[in-house]
Amino acid sequence: MILVTGVSGALAGAILGGLRAVDGLEAAGASSSGHGAAVRHADFDRPETLDDAFAGVDVLVFVSAGYAEDDVVLARHGVVVRAAAGAGVKHVIYTSLAASGEHLTIALAHRWTEARLAGAPFDVTVLRNGLYAEIPAGLALAGAAAAAESGVFAAPLGQGRMPVVARDDLAAAAVRVAAEAWHDIATGAPRRHAGRTYELEGVAAVGGDDLAQVLAGVLGRPVEYRTVPLGDVRPLLAGLEAYQAGHTLSTFSNVNAGLLEARHSDLPAFVQPRPVRDLIAAEVRAGIRS
Ligand SMILES: NC(=O)c1ccc[n+]([C@@H]2O[C@H](COP(=O)([O-])OP(=O)(O)OC[C@H]3O[C@@H](n4cnc5c(N)ncnc54)[C@H](OP(=O)(O)O)[C@@H]3O)[C@@H](O)[C@H]2O)c1
Repeated sequence: MILVTGVSGALAGAILGGLRAVDGLEAAGASSSGHGAAVRHADFDRPETLDDAFAGVDVLVFVSAGYAEDDVVLARHGVVVRAAAGAGVKHVIYTSLAASGEHLTIALAHRWTEARLAGAPFDVTVLRNGLYAEIPAGLALAGAAAAAESGVFAAPLGQGRMPVVARDDLAAAAVRVAAEAWHDIATGAPRRHAGRTYELEGVAAVGGDDLAQVLAGVLGRPVEYRTVPLGDVRPLLAGLEAYQAGHTLSTFSNVNAGLLEARHSDLPAFVQPRPVRDLIAAEVRAGIRS
């Protein structure tokens, strides 16, 4: 049986939906907050819930629960690794962070978790997910009203670009790896994904000029990009959770430094990547309408 954690979330929900559409697979969901008979209760903040949740599981799709301070995320991920080992799970597939994000503050918890998994007594596959296309889409949408008025799109990206990927592409890759891992266990075939790390980087990068072009297409007027100093952005993030503000600034710093350039992506081996500029334009259009 395959169990997906965190299925009230967008990524995990899409992975579970994809697995349930595959003939012959037994797939279940787990959640700290979701309800329903088909969903097991697994709260990483309450380790005592995990023994029952992971019972009888062959393949665990462990979706990171990263929206918290690092100490909370490390505690959550540490108990998942321990509980999976205790429950006799045969193969864990962990959704991590792509290599281009090595200098992001969120990398710490992902690399720590990868190291814990490497020492665990089960097979492991690490899916190093690229950044979601919704990140630049959110920036473009935030700047759309001003761009419509002034013809200027302002964002704190310098001249850097970030490789981004559709979340649904990441879900599709996870579905394929989990289904094949389960198949190999069930048939006794060599476990093709055991011990593998896949870089699921976006295959297209976007920066300020690209987002200005997207906005020009959506708004039907010329739009020019202008960078914003990080010092001007920091006060604007005061409404976010403190950890979230830190991670957001870290993302902008990395883009400015040109550190988010991907060198290699395994994504096309699993799915035909969706064109991210079209996705961003669609998200901006939908956001303007709502
Ligand atoms: N690649 C990227 O650009 C990017 C961006 C943002 C985040 N992420 C990471 O990718 C993960 C999935 O992204 P998403 O877009 O699906 O996020 P999302 O829709 O906001 O979902 C948040 C996830 O955190 C889980 N979670 C929260 N508290 C939990 C707890 N106590 N125990 C177990 N799970 C808990 C939720 O599961 P339940 O509520 O069902 O338990 C859900 O799967 C995030 O959690 C984060 O670590 C990646």
